[in-house]
Amino acid sequence: MTTAQTAPPPSMRLRELVFGAACAAALRAAARLGVADALGDSPMAVEDLAAAVKTEPRPLRRLLRALSCYGVFAEQQDGTFAHTDMSRLLREDDPHSLRDITLWCTEPWTWDAWPELDEAVRTGQNVVQGLYGKEFFTYLNEDAPESAAVFNRAMTTSSEQSARDVAALLDLSGTASVADIGGGQGHVVASLLDKYPSMHGTLLDLPRVVDNALPRLRERGDLADRARIVPGDVRVAVPVKADAYVIKNILEWDDDSTARTLRNVIEAGGPGARVVVIENLVDDTPSMRFSTAMDLLLLLNVGGAKHTTDSMVSRLTEAGLVIDDIRPVNPYLHAFDCHVPV
Ligand SMILES: C[S@@+](CC[C@H](N)C(=O)[O-])C[C@H]1O[C@@H](n2cnc3c(N)ncnc32)[C@H](O)[C@@H]1O
Repeated sequence: MTTAQTAPPPSMRLRELVFGAACAAALRAAARLGVADALGDSPMAVEDLAAAVKTEPRPLRRLLRALSCYGVFAEQQDGTFAHTDMSRLLREDDPHSLRDITLWCTEPWTWDAWPELDEAVRTGQNVVQGLYGKEFFTYLNEDAPESAAVFNRAMTTSSEQSARDVAALLDLSGTASVADIGGGQGHVVASLLDKYPSMHGTLLDLPRVVDNALPRLRERGDLADRARIVPGDVRVAVPVKADAYVIKNILEWDDDSTARTLRNVIEAGGPGARVVVIENLVDDTPSMRFSTAMDLLLLLNVGGAKHTTDSMVSRLTEAGLVIDDIRPVNPYLHAFDCHVPV
């Protein structure tokens, strides 16, 4: 029987760590095969699971045994496998599903990029330009449509989960209009329009992304009469006048793009506009292993970085914003509530 182990000696721990790719690949394989979806509430024999997900039983047992070592699935005394709290999160229908995020963090481009990490550390530059000859999001949308679709679904999952927290935290009473800058499919805008029934909201993101904006915001959607969808590149211009701007999980790219985006928002909003920047931080957070890994991935794909509290404060004040408040939104996100000086 395989179980998750605790605290092996350093020489074994390091051996385990260098095989981190095997763990990531096993999670990806389980997610792609739909093993967690096929496994119900009762433990199942590997032969039955293999028939359900159309694999050979023996290699499937090996995959499940490897994952069980990390507490993802649990092998029972009789050789059957059962769900654990973590393996349930690989199910597509779990309310807190991380299936699409599992796929996103292990997409094919990540396996091209990780071996170049030493080069990225040497130069401080992204490696995607060298690998694919174009910027990351251009590559994603033009050359890797399946990865782009996975990205959109992963963003949807994390946006849905965090949009509710953002709407609960933000007091926009008395605000007539809000704009979500790089707002993806528009979950934050939708949550805010739900909370404030007379407010208007704009979603601004790249053209191919807003093409997939939430149906609720589009023509004939229940929020359409209060929602505007604007395709564009926020580094070039923010053609949206609003009382408040939300910028969530965008300012993680290179400092020049951050400076340009903030300048465009400040110009669009004008004196007195409220600007709420929401980010994961690599300090002051209980999720350091996750956020530092994301930080390295951002270096690889967009030459970007997750911020510390200090680096975020510096970028915002250098851009000319006045910071009124810094608050946690939930255990992994912080809001920097700012305004454009009058
Ligand atoms: C990490 S996602 C965050 C999405 C959303 N704000 C959220 O928190 O759920 C980054 C978003 O930035 C958008 N984006 C990237 N480059 C952009 C650009 N130059 N102009 C506008 N949006 C951009 C992406 O399309 C994507 O939706």
